[in-house]
Amino acid sequence: MTKPIKNDLDEVICDCSGTTRAQIQALFLQGLDQDAISRKTGALSGCAGCEWNIEQFLLQLSQQTQK
Ligand code: FES
Repeated sequence: MTKPIKNDLDEVICDCSGTTRAQIQALFLQGLDQDAISRKTGALSGCAGCEWNIEQFLLQLSQQTQK
């Protein structure tokens, strides 16, 4: 069983595109990878200042879904 994500899902993780953690999580759970999520949301396509946070969040999601 998947544990609930502890992050605040309403938090905007990419200021350039206004993408929230919830949007990233939903697309991840649909099986999209980072590049596809970027194309869908516009995240990572501006200043790329969110790159580390998004990578860490996706890593966390993948670790949680493997348990
Ligand atoms: S904050 Fe995500 S591209 Fe700028």
